[in-house]
Amino acid sequence: MDPYITEWLNLAVRWVHMITGVAWIGASFYFVWLENNLNRENPKEGLSGDLWAIHGGGIYHLEKYKLAPPKMPETLHWFKWEAYFTWITGVALLTIVFYSNADIYLVKPGSGIEPMTAVAIGVGSLIAGWFVYDFLCDSPLGKKPMLLGVVLFAALVAAAWALSLVFSGRGAYIHVGAIIGTIMVGNVFRIIMPAQRGLVKAIEENREPDPELPAKGLLRSRHNNYLTLPVLFIMISNHFPSTYGNEYNWAILAGLSVISVLVRHYFNTRHGSQKYAWTIPTAALGLVCLAFVSAPTKTSSVPMAVESNGHNHGVVEVSEFVQVKSIIMERCTVCHSQSPTHPAFATAPAGVMLDTPQQMQNEVTRIVAQTVTTNIMPLGNLTQMTPEEREA
Ligand code: HEC
Repeated sequence: MDPYITEWLNLAVRWVHMITGVAWIGASFYFVWLENNLNRENPKEGLSGDLWAIHGGGIYHLEKYKLAPPKMPETLHWFKWEAYFTWITGVALLTIVFYSNADIYLVKPGSGIEPMTAVAIGVGSLIAGWFVYDFLCDSPLGKKPMLLGVVLFAALVAAAWALSLVFSGRGAYIHVGAIIGTIMVGNVFRIIMPAQRGLVKAIEENREPDPELPAKGLLRSRHNNYLTLPVLFIMISNHFPSTYGNEYNWAILAGLSVISVLVRHYFNTRHGSQKYAWTIPTAALGLVCLAFVSAPTKTSSVPMAVESNGHNHGVVEVSEFVQVKSIIMERCTVCHSQSPTHPAFATAPAGVMLDTPQQMQNEVTRIVAQTVTTNIMPLGNLTQMTPEEREA
């Protein structure tokens, strides 16, 4: 497809994905907050609690029923389309960005995997992810939520590791995110919605609702709640090459997920007690430690070369620069140019143009970050840059 059209398609779908994602997660956070802040002292007959709030210049009074009101209201608002649309637009985006240019974005450079095979692995991972998750929840493990949580976490880390063997860093990250997103929307579609429909139907027919379904729904919506923060990080991880570009990118992702689950746990429990207040400083410390242990090792000579360039080393400087310039011309400007010759790009990716010596100089820091401290560029190593050239 024409890369210009792809870019606008990407724009439109990504925008909708963000909007529906914000609506989904916003509603989810809001209802958890409601639940945690209900005033449960002396509730009115049939209520489990109520709550007063002020927002947007108006005062609201909300009441939560123990089960249901004596008479069902005419309009009952459901929350599902934001979840479904987040998933639909997410899969569309995955296709537009990663699957339509699998050779560039998805395949791990040097792995020798065919682009179509990579796409099949990607799609397969989403489907398998849901079935493995659903199976584990319905197994006897489902009765032990803590143990189940640990097993699910280990399974996701294993998936991240396995995907990192065949996919580029960002390809692996986005698929872990998509697996989690699929699990979350699967929970809404297959478990939570049917449970709610069962509840409403039982009330309308004056029956006792089956207690099994809501209990299952509660476990799944707990999972969704803890999964939001890791998935949100993955969605912005594209901006952080030190994470997905690291050799142990799957371990960094695991570390960040543990940190985010700790934070989420504090916010889920702080209304009852401050027992988990320690998780916040621990998470902050964990973030610092993670940044420290995953820092790039400074053995490369390139940053030195850049420095010596800045220090006026006359002849050496010029000859070094000539060499670097020809490497960049050969390996980078097919894409990073005012008029890229690579068919997938209509304009210079990320606005980075490397046509002139001045432009190259201006981008030194970013070039080092993308090409030397990590192997992210050239994307998919399509232009087959050698380790010696990176050194230079
Ligand atoms: C096959 C095309 C392609 C080649 C070849 C390529 N790049 Fe890129 N580059 C991209 C794309 C696409 C992006 C935008 C990445 C994104 O989506 O964030 C990018 C982004 C960048 C960025 C900006 C990253 C940021 O956001 O800070 C830098 C710097 C960069 N490339 C440097 C290089 C260098 C240096 C080379 C050559 C060694 C190179 N690229 C080769 C496609 C390419």
